[in-house]
Amino acid sequence: MESLPIGAVGVLLVSILLFLALRRSKQRPPLPPGPKGLPLIGNLLDMPTHYPWKTYVEWGRRYCSDVVHIQLLGFHLVVINTARSAAELLDKKSTIYSDRPWLTMMCDLANHADWDIALMSNNARWKASRVQYQRVLSSERSKQWRRKQTLAAYAFGRSLLDAPGELFKHTRYSVGSNILNVTYDIHALPNGDPWINLAERANEIGNAAISPGSYLVDVFPKLKYLPSWFPGTGFKRDALEFKKVGESLLHDPYDHAKRMMLTRNNEESIVSELLGELDDSATAEQRREVEMTTKRSTSVLYGAGAETNVAALNTFFLAMLLYPDVQENARKEVSRVTKEGRLPDFSDDLPYIRAIAKECLRWRPPVPLGIPHRVTQDDVGLGYRIPKGSIVAGNIWAILHDEHVYPHTSEFDPNRFMGSDPNPDPDAVFGFGRRICPGRFFAIDALWIMIATTVAAFDIEKALDADGRVEEPTAQYTSGFQSRPLPFKCTIKPRTLEMALLVRLTAPDST
Ligand code: HEM
Repeated sequence: MESLPIGAVGVLLVSILLFLALRRSKQRPPLPPGPKGLPLIGNLLDMPTHYPWKTYVEWGRRYCSDVVHIQLLGFHLVVINTARSAAELLDKKSTIYSDRPWLTMMCDLANHADWDIALMSNNARWKASRVQYQRVLSSERSKQWRRKQTLAAYAFGRSLLDAPGELFKHTRYSVGSNILNVTYDIHALPNGDPWINLAERANEIGNAAISPGSYLVDVFPKLKYLPSWFPGTGFKRDALEFKKVGESLLHDPYDHAKRMMLTRNNEESIVSELLGELDDSATAEQRREVEMTTKRSTSVLYGAGAETNVAALNTFFLAMLLYPDVQENARKEVSRVTKEGRLPDFSDDLPYIRAIAKECLRWRPPVPLGIPHRVTQDDVGLGYRIPKGSIVAGNIWAILHDEHVYPHTSEFDPNRFMGSDPNPDPDAVFGFGRRICPGRFFAIDALWIMIATTVAAFDIEKALDADGRVEEPTAQYTSGFQSRPLPFKCTIKPRTLEMALLVRLTAPDST
């Protein structure tokens, strides 16, 4: 047989290789579209720093895609801009989309992933806490906290009477102390309370540490091996403090709750309810296990629930300044039910108030990009390739400002949730899949009773300056991981002398 010339063999081989490569690239779906990055640093320079959720919507429009992608120093970041696509990936495939990104500073060095449920991988510890949340915070079980929420709302009303110019202090104290009370049976002091100080310090640390670019060690994890004496390793000192505060948050309020359980005037709390599952037959090992799970489940509740609910409540006050008609309609609804002879409570049917609570969460979602998820397997979804380890963020702001779903989306309009053909509830505000916020029922209830009590008893108006001119609120929001209104001025007055008296008589001495 005649042998083929060497050149022809070469051409044949190259053609076969080309054909195989082409076929492989045809079989392999593309990554979701996004701005073209630079060699080595990828899209580092494209990363939006201000209101990133709006930039991701822009990119979605530019690339005609619900999902956009960028790459940063080896990380893939996938942002999902519509409810449909979020359901497709984060809900339907939640078995593989429910992990969390690993942050070297918080998880490795400060050890927070050991106990902080919101940072934890989807491991057995995390699952055990999710089971506990179901026991104390499900839609049904959350109702047991309504009495404490109501008392907190009435006490909030009294603090508005006493110091109407300190709205932001009152919202923070009311929401925070209520969560501590429900979780640990703690009765926090209005000023300088050590438990609130501890929880707030832990929050500050968490917020600072997870802001992009705070710690270089999150970008270059190998830096963690540098010795502490090495110049530029101040992050190691911070990590030690973070660890100490974290441990205190994990153990100290829990120990307080256990001490309270031994007193005569103790009240039901999440800790007491969770420990209630232990009867005398429990072995020492079972007891230790349940106690540790309870510590972890409860230690994160203030961090996850306080700042978010405070942001929503402050949004309510801002919206009442900007939309006085809504305030008037709300007041009419409450007055019709209470006949102005009492403050509202959970036995009242107040659909418009519920619609206002939903609209606060839709209009200005407190966590606009949620907490990022991480995918644990290579996946193909929505026609795109999503590599294993990608960080996947549901763009909550984009989903709740989708003009096709929420027409006139920039308007604050509670009526969208009323009537026979309402807009869908803004469920996305609480995240996705197996990671969905376990405190969502508690959060809506807390917001509802605060709003109902406030509109029943107070008029909220724009402030006047020294010359009697109306001061327009700036209505600006912070643009970090959590988005809350920047401080604004407003005038809060009891609607009538009778309402002021009613608040004074109904509010408890302490919550
Ligand atoms: C308006 C108030 C609130 C908003 C907007 C909110 C929103 C969220 C969001 C977006 C997430 C991340 C979900 C995801 O990863 O997809 C989350 C997680 C979480 N939330 Fe909330 N939340 C609120 C109030 C609360 C309250 C009151 C509690 C507890 C009493 C709470 C407890 C938690 C916990 C423990 C997690 C972590 C869940 C996990 O990683 O498995 N939240 N929340």
